[in-house]
Amino acid sequence: MLVLGIETSCDDTGVALYDDKEGLKAHALFSQVRHAAYGGVVPELASRDHIQKLLPVIDALLQESKTELSDLSAIAYTAGPGLAGALLVGAALARALAFALAIPALGIHHLEGHLLAPKLEADAPDFPFLALLVSGGHTLLADVQGLGRYTILGESRDDAAGEAFDKSAKALGLGYPGGPAISAAAAQGHDAGLRLPRPLTDRPGLDFSFSGLKTALLQAARAQPLDDIRRAHLAYALQDAIVDTLVIKCRRALLATGHTRLVIAGGVGANQTLRDRLTEETQNLKVALYYPRPAFCTDNGAMIAYAGCQRLVAGQTDRGEFGIRPRWPLNELTPP
Ligand code: KG4
Ligand code: ZN
Repeated sequence: MLVLGIETSCDDTGVALYDDKEGLKAHALFSQVRHAAYGGVVPELASRDHIQKLLPVIDALLQESKTELSDLSAIAYTAGPGLAGALLVGAALARALAFALAIPALGIHHLEGHLLAPKLEADAPDFPFLALLVSGGHTLLADVQGLGRYTILGESRDDAAGEAFDKSAKALGLGYPGGPAISAAAAQGHDAGLRLPRPLTDRPGLDFSFSGLKTALLQAARAQPLDDIRRAHLAYALQDAIVDTLVIKCRRALLATGHTRLVIAGGVGANQTLRDRLTEETQNLKVALYYPRPAFCTDNGAMIAYAGCQRLVAGQTDRGEFGIRPRWPLNELTPP
């Protein structure tokens, strides 16, 4: 069964081909860099770019992998959560193409894609596992028992971890997206005695809160004139605080649940300092750590093709639902 995956929930146009027997056959991504000029994603521009890029990216994917449209068994597309206009571009194209080819189309939950992305790798985790999902829009710890069987153990009450990176980078004049910019700047800095808060770590529970951290950084940034060295130290302090907070909550969740596998997913999962710290922590706890390659941490079509393929193989059928779900709580998902 060969599934075409389409991801257009935000500013990346991602496509991929996943085969249930042969695995990932090809994947391609067009990243919309023009939002950098605005310091964040402009939804209308994102939709227009998806309209322009989606068909050429699919054409190139099919050509590169020597695949004909008639080889496709199904199409999986991101139905939510995400930007309504951007989601509609992917959903409309997926539905139209599936209708023309008389094959099923499935709307996939973007976060399910992220949660399952580590399964695209050779060293794939078996169910069940604990997942730390850290992206630009979400920060949550989930108990993953199987396909569509997700329980949220804790989540952010305000900003997501990626949002804290993005907003702080903007405040420091470091550009967009903020995660890679902060981590590059932090590599030039060191612990200069500036300690930012580790929100909600001083009380029980697995929820997160990152909006106060961003304010603390802003205040520290205003306290002294900003030059490159000061920026690097502030970036270091911010990354240290975010990573520390995430590691403390992961350890707490692992001890509370007894899970022996931890999966990191979502764009912030590409952060090397987070990976290094979690590697150390999980070794101490004798827990196996899994994460996808950086390109499959950030938004991509492969995770959507994979999730769609798994659901189809498990018997899910196309219910003909066209609707997109810009807001779609993860805990509403059910097994196929
Ligand atoms: O998963 P993703 O591509 O999109 C969403 O679903 O939100 O995540 C994007 C987020 C952005 O906030 C970006 O700044 C962050 O992931 N990010 C990183 C890194 N690469 C991307 N954050 C920290 N370190 C990185 N290396
Ligand atoms: Zn995402």
